[in-house]
Amino acid sequence: TRGLPHLARAHGIDLGVAVAVNPLTHDTRYQSVVTENYTSVTAENAMKWEHVQPERSRFDWSGPDAVVDFAERNGLDVHGHTLLWHNQQPSWLAQGDWSAQELRQVLREHMEALLGRYQGRVTSWDVINEPFQDHGPRLRENLWYQVLGEDYIAEALSMAHEIDPEAELYINEFGIEGGGAKTDAMYSLVTDLLDRGVPLHGVGFQGHFVHGNVPQDLAEHMRRFSDLGLEVTVSELDVRIPQPPREQALRQQEQEYQHVVQACLEVPRCVGVSVWGVSDQHSWIPEWFPGYTAALPFDEDYEPKPALDGMTEAL
Ligand code: XIL
Repeated sequence: TRGLPHLARAHGIDLGVAVAVNPLTHDTRYQSVVTENYTSVTAENAMKWEHVQPERSRFDWSGPDAVVDFAERNGLDVHGHTLLWHNQQPSWLAQGDWSAQELRQVLREHMEALLGRYQGRVTSWDVINEPFQDHGPRLRENLWYQVLGEDYIAEALSMAHEIDPEAELYINEFGIEGGGAKTDAMYSLVTDLLDRGVPLHGVGFQGHFVHGNVPQDLAEHMRRFSDLGLEVTVSELDVRIPQPPREQALRQQEQEYQHVVQACLEVPRCVGVSVWGVSDQHSWIPEWFPGYTAALPFDEDYEPKPALDGMTEAL
């Protein structure tokens, strides 16, 4: 076929999409959009700690299994998201009064469960998600930082590598796509980790962009990291438009999606672009950024938008 998956593979990149378990298992139109347009999936929520381990040592595999099984049945790859993050932690974890030794044990148990269950089936993982403060160059003082100190990042990467030596291990972050203090801080962090021989294989640039404000120099910033020998990816692309989304905005969004895929193609070790949701009906944007909408390549009725043409034109 000449569809997007074929074009993406021909260019050696992955085109991914974040999926939610309920429509993925119940809605055939949702399933078709995924299988006809993408080459990989990421669980939008199902592999996050609060879903996977809602109580200590009680694991719920229903969501992650549904995503991985769907992917396998349809020849799609799976990117694992995410092992350490400050959000969507179950309260037993977030509110526990942990010693460093206990928290390391809790982390090891979680990683062994997830990495072990999906070894060889989920081959890349966001080990660390959003390690920096929202706006700035400093590390976020999350639970892991508070209990283990700033070296929690190196510790977690080493632990993941020990458990699944074949997995590609990523740090994933937002606000690093256009340069500036946060990008530079990420660059120092990863150069330090690489200098110390810490197992790190890639950096995810989330790519939650605002319409009209997609960084023109995205490729340049990804290239800096690619030049270190790291893989890079645009891991959570969406381009939110202020309401109401007019025809002209949707046409400009086409250029913006094209630009992002083009940027990935220009960077040697850019392995792909993933969009953060199947359609505007499922996007996290209206809830999290009130007043914004229409951020994805398919509209609320699963009709393709100009943004989808934009991705195709880049390929
Ligand atoms: C978001 C999901 O899309 C929402 O459904 C959920 O309520 C909150 O998390 N950066 C990330 C993702 O790494 O995990 C977030 O996903 C969006 C921001």
